[in-house]
Amino acid sequence: MSEYPRLVIMASGRGSNFQAIQDAIEQRRLAATTCAVISDRANAGALELATEQGIDTLCIEPRHFAHRTDFERALMTAINGFSPNWVVLAGFMRVLGADFVRHYHGRMINIHPSLLPRHRGLHTHRRVLEAGEDEHGASVHFVTPALDAGPVIAQVQMPVAQHDTPDTLADRLLPLEHRLYPATLALLINHRVELRDEDICIDDHTLATPLRLGRDLDDHGRLVEPGGR
Ligand code: GAR
Repeated sequence: MSEYPRLVIMASGRGSNFQAIQDAIEQRRLAATTCAVISDRANAGALELATEQGIDTLCIEPRHFAHRTDFERALMTAINGFSPNWVVLAGFMRVLGADFVRHYHGRMINIHPSLLPRHRGLHTHRRVLEAGEDEHGASVHFVTPALDAGPVIAQVQMPVAQHDTPDTLADRLLPLEHRLYPATLALLINHRVELRDEDICIDDHTLATPLRLGRDLDDHGRLVEPGGR
């Protein structure tokens, strides 16, 4: 059995970020193993992709449970059955309750399509344009009970052009997300990373600001400046 850190990936949609992580594993940029892909939607593309690659899948739909807490308990039992080191939210479009989130404190991460703390929640591409901002990006953060508000580990940035629409922004950002997520996971796996209260410590250095892909962090998850910033 593989000694690599074990990932459980949770996805509600097409699964391109899951696939980017899987590609990084296949190409040996990421020394991890994906134990399962779990979805809250039976028609999620992520489930189909995982099945094609021989990865275990599970679908747990909230409509089969009377209460959100029952749904989340079932989800937790399913996840724990795979004994993951990391729970990786990759387009999992459901707000998770505080008990669930606390159970995975310091080992559950999420990718969000904005430069957090800007634009938590939905429709980030449209909101960047409405706010007249000239830069956009994506963030990988630890999940805490407040939505999209956990400490940010790493970000990728890109300029907003005058002719951009929400769709063109989304299209340009997605390939950057596909670089950011595996790189951040590699960082978490290769270094001693701890979440202490709201602080992220990497090899015992507190991270003052999120790492930026291409500046502080390379595509293999290596810190460009020893010890980070
Ligand atoms: C990605 O853009 C991801 O950043 C976003 O959903 C998309 C999933 O795409 N996540 C969120 O908005 C979470 N709040 P994918 O299914 O192709 O990976």
